[in-house]
Amino acid sequence: MTITQSRPFSERMQNMPESFIREILKVSSNPEVISFAGGLPNPKFFPVDRIAAAAERVFSKQGTSALQYWVTEGYLPLRDYIAQWQSAKAGRRLAAEEILVLSGSQQGLDLMGKLFLNPGSNALLEGPSYLGAIQAMSAYQPEFHHLKIYEGGPDVNEFNKAMKTLKPPLFYCIPNFQNPTGNTYDLSHRQAMAATEYNNDTIWLEDNPYGEIYFEKNDLPDFFNLLPERTISLGSFSKIISPGMRMGWAAGPKDIIKRMSIAKQASDLHSNNLTQRIIYQFLIDNALEDHLDAIRIFYKEQANFMIAEMMQYFPPQVTWIKPKGGMFIWVTLPDHIQANALLKTAIEQNVIFVPGQHFFIDPKQGTTSLRMNFSNPSKNEITKGIKVLGSLVYDMME
Ligand SMILES: Cc1ncc(COP(=O)(O)O)c(C=O)c1O
Repeated sequence: MTITQSRPFSERMQNMPESFIREILKVSSNPEVISFAGGLPNPKFFPVDRIAAAAERVFSKQGTSALQYWVTEGYLPLRDYIAQWQSAKAGRRLAAEEILVLSGSQQGLDLMGKLFLNPGSNALLEGPSYLGAIQAMSAYQPEFHHLKIYEGGPDVNEFNKAMKTLKPPLFYCIPNFQNPTGNTYDLSHRQAMAATEYNNDTIWLEDNPYGEIYFEKNDLPDFFNLLPERTISLGSFSKIISPGMRMGWAAGPKDIIKRMSIAKQASDLHSNNLTQRIIYQFLIDNALEDHLDAIRIFYKEQANFMIAEMMQYFPPQVTWIKPKGGMFIWVTLPDHIQANALLKTAIEQNVIFVPGQHFFIDPKQGTTSLRMNFSNPSKNEITKGIKVLGSLVYDMME
């Protein structure tokens, strides 16, 4: 037995999955490798100079306060800004007390698990779902139940049945440009799900880090709008300003936000005070919408380009969901071709992606699908990489 195997790790660590994506990203540090595997925002949209200018202003105007401990809930001007900005989407005027600043929206997944899951609690989540959420919540040892995702949203009857029989304390969903499928719930799914008669005491955890990266403006109401009494919405600056700054927020009913901030206090006292002020200074000094529009236009073009290349180089039996925003395309191979086997041969030709099974609790699901990221590779890499994958799939079909 090795020394590490003999450590008395807690039960909650036994089933926490390791992130395959972090593992595969190690391969992608080789510059020869074309990576469709990561979930990295394109760094050309990191506003380096404007963040530097904002930082300089923060240091010159509020240096000592910015370097001091701060309150757990977050820097009030930033909470006010987020409240005002998100009010239109929420369909009501939000107050700062309804916002908690987080160290990335990832922290919200952990805190919500801490608040609402006991060992053995039923957690309902999309299948496939975001691996980081499965990781965060698995620490609280729930029973996970997948709700299958189809284009346009889950089957409403299946959803109702799950809500009726499982009575889950938490329903976790990513209705806008989901990671990993890129799928968006359409209006009828949103309305029908929000109207379920089996709402029990379920809290809806609506994860929305990609909501601002739409390809066409839409007025689809979020669950945060439709079910304000029971929905916590998680937002993030990662995909729109910088993931390295680790800034996100939770918005929702004041009593839940209050409890979340108590749990957050135990976890990190507060999010980085200096970074909160720099983000706030950036937001008030710059036209955020112009910045977002530039990202939306570029990502849309990237997605369309990848789809055009897939149409040209993939066999017609390969299918995908056309994303309306976000950073991913979910591709499904013919039934007898395993994404894992494809990855093995693709790596030899320096192309990587994430096989679909890594987004399910049960690795026997999603085995013929793959998640393809389009935000980060160049057009040249997209063409080269899709050609390689296409010819490997043709070979495997023989
Ligand atoms: C669906 C989803 N939720 C949350 C996160 C975490 O984002 P953040 O950087 O805000 O912690 C990600 C990051 O990829 C994500 O895809």
